Amino acid sequence: MDPKNPNRDARSSPQYGLYQRENFWKSNDGQVPPFNTEPGKLEELAKAKLTENGWYYASSNAGQSHTHTANRQSFYRHRIIPRMLVDTNTRDTSTEIFGHKVPAPIGFAPIGINKIYHPAGELPVAKVAGELGLPYCLSTAGSQPIEDVGKANGDGPRFFQLYMPHDDELTRSLLTRAVKSGFTACILTLDTWQLAWRHDDVNTSNYAFYHGIGADLGLSDPVFQKRLKELGIDPVKQPNEAGAAWIDNVWHGRAHTWEKVKWVMGVWKEISGGKPFCLKGIQSVEDANKAVEIGCHGIVVSNHAGRQVDGAIASLDALESIVDAVGGKTYIMFDSGVRGASDVFKALALGAKFVFVGRLWVWGLSIMGETGVRHVMTSLLADFDILLNVAGYRNLSDIDRKALESGLKAYPLLPVTWKL
Ligand code: GLV
Repeated sequence: MDPKNPNRDARSSPQYGLYQRENFWKSNDGQVPPFNTEPGKLEELAKAKLTENGWYYASSNAGQSHTHTANRQSFYRHRIIPRMLVDTNTRDTSTEIFGHKVPAPIGFAPIGINKIYHPAGELPVAKVAGELGLPYCLSTAGSQPIEDVGKANGDGPRFFQLYMPHDDELTRSLLTRAVKSGFTACILTLDTWQLAWRHDDVNTSNYAFYHGIGADLGLSDPVFQKRLKELGIDPVKQPNEAGAAWIDNVWHGRAHTWEKVKWVMGVWKEISGGKPFCLKGIQSVEDANKAVEIGCHGIVVSNHAGRQVDGAIASLDALESIVDAVGGKTYIMFDSGVRGASDVFKALALGAKFVFVGRLWVWGLSIMGETGVRHVMTSLLADFDILLNVAGYRNLSDIDRKALESGLKAYPLLPVTWKL
């Protein structure tokens, strides 16, 4: 790629594709690219770096991993139709999300307990997201205080993912902290009142919070600190009990209903002055309709990357029907199973306005901390930029269902060990 390409000045979004050139050139300067970003290799490298528990948690899925498998299979069902001789010289990857102009339709999905992947936890991830100007979502199960994550993220757009406790004062406190720390949207997750049955995690007692790791977001909360006093738990002397008290408030195992969602929407509106409120974990048309009916600003079509309901439909398949039903009525985001730029493209073509990725950056963080997250995400952006160039799509509005040839939902049964 010619770095002096005269068209570079005609481009209104970054020339991410140049990252390919940077890496191709590296060995001339006695350097090597940080690591191979092919998803299978990323996974292997992360596995080699992590503790057994870190690895199990990063890779765990619900039950037999059938939902994870379906997520990946559904991407193969759709094939991109490349177009030739399209003037992609002025291509633009940028878009808008909740009033933020962002350089690409790609964001950092909320993932908790980053300290099990890297000692600095969420901070390097938020920092890199801020640098790239891509939305960063902080999980309520995050292992750093909300305030510190906000600072690390700088001027980047950031959203707070809420796991709603059954303690309303605590919910208010978390949302207040998020607003004060510059988080500009609330994303309420609906599919995780508790973690699903994940064999390896259960078999190895792999629940970091019960072992005194990762409760920092809760331990730094004034209302939760009050709760610990009421319970007579000293977080310094009893880190396991304190961590357990926190996570038992977050993944409490007690379902909420639509009435409570309306309540928390109101609370968020009051605290944030009316900033966007979204629901994450929507997989059915009925629930998408309901979300629109109660006035949510957006939904994330997600099956939690296959980590919650085993044997469920692929999130990409759910996306299609949901877009047909409520596409024009709410802002539709997507996650679950994205492993590369072509997956991002396919989700956009099926009607998502924005795509979040999770495991890719978790692997990057595990392999090489901040450098790893930067490398993985910059590579994904470069891959996306190059894909638009070689496939002949100038911008996101060019990408619609006509860009795909889609097969039937006739997935072969595959053994769990089949490499996806
Ligand atoms: C939590 O969100 C998890 O999937 O473990």
